[in-house]
Amino acid sequence: MKIDGTPYRSIWVDETDHWSVRIIDQTKLPWAIDIVRLTTMESVAHAIKAMLVRGAPLIGASAAYGVALAMRADSSDAALAQAVTVLGATRPTAINLRWALARMAAKLQPLGGSARAAAAYVEAALICDEDVATNQAIGRHGLPLIEARAATKTVNVLTHCNAGWIATVDWGTALAPIYMAHDAGIDIHVWVEETRPRNQGASLTAWELGKHGVKHTVISDNAGGHMMQRGDVDLVIVGTDRVTRNGDVANKIGTYLKALAARDNGVPFWVALPSSTIDWTIADGLSDIPIEERAATEVTTMTGRALDGSIATIRVVPKDSPAANPAFDVTPARLVSGLITERGLCAANETALREMFHDLA
Ligand code: MRU
Repeated sequence: MKIDGTPYRSIWVDETDHWSVRIIDQTKLPWAIDIVRLTTMESVAHAIKAMLVRGAPLIGASAAYGVALAMRADSSDAALAQAVTVLGATRPTAINLRWALARMAAKLQPLGGSARAAAAYVEAALICDEDVATNQAIGRHGLPLIEARAATKTVNVLTHCNAGWIATVDWGTALAPIYMAHDAGIDIHVWVEETRPRNQGASLTAWELGKHGVKHTVISDNAGGHMMQRGDVDLVIVGTDRVTRNGDVANKIGTYLKALAARDNGVPFWVALPSSTIDWTIADGLSDIPIEERAATEVTTMTGRALDGSIATIRVVPKDSPAANPAFDVTPARLVSGLITERGLCAANETALREMFHDLA
């Protein structure tokens, strides 16, 4: 997608040296577009952990390039195993991380040491290109859901967190159908939930949509249910970090409450995902998906632009009050209207998922 007229992906190999990896530091958005150069596997691991890059597909793509950087420095079996271990420990919930590392290891293990670095760059680039094609397909399959509601009025879509182009390599998952609807001239408006505590909605989704010219309004997380009761939401589309084989959906904390509100108000609740987000090894999301616990400071503080123009972090909780910060929740499959995948729309249950992805399950 474009930033001020210039096309970008969220991750790429440096055009000059052809080996280091460039990312947009998402902790600086929307205040600054800070392009960071990553030169070691450890710096990629840090970028994932500290959320300079985030969003399930981009975490996977970044880890793939982390392996490539590791192989460039040392292509031994021990270095490959170490890269998979270190990168795999960065964030627990998004299954795309494990998926990408397993794919890289399967590709590289049979090769001799000297061939590994070049092969790792090729495989990481393939993962990125496939992600872009996958998300375009998700967009195409999701577009009719929006078109169906567009005949007479503005279509109002509510989304939570950021599942846009910067959460993937390009296009996004939940936002891909929205971008395609906008580009097709459909009158569309997005309710963007702020997504406390890290504000991925307010800071990232609003920024992306604004740069592309998509009409949107930021609302507090607590306003989504009210908007649905008022009849101001036609459908909800969110992304996901892991879908179990029976269709349970892990996504950013607060997603479950929106699914409950959507069910109570008869609003369709759709989840957009690439097949790399399906965890075929587990069935029960509530017991088996690891939920990342992040630092309490993400809850006790907020960061933004102060009135004097500086970027400031302020405390919003009394200094002695403890805070807890579960970063994801699980929406049971029964609350999900359907899944938007690169192969088409799919019911959120094991039979439908196995039928659509029989070659992967
Ligand atoms: O903690 P984050 O910002 O990595 O969480 C991101 C989300 O929850 C997204 O909705 C999900 O990864 C899907 S991204 C296409």
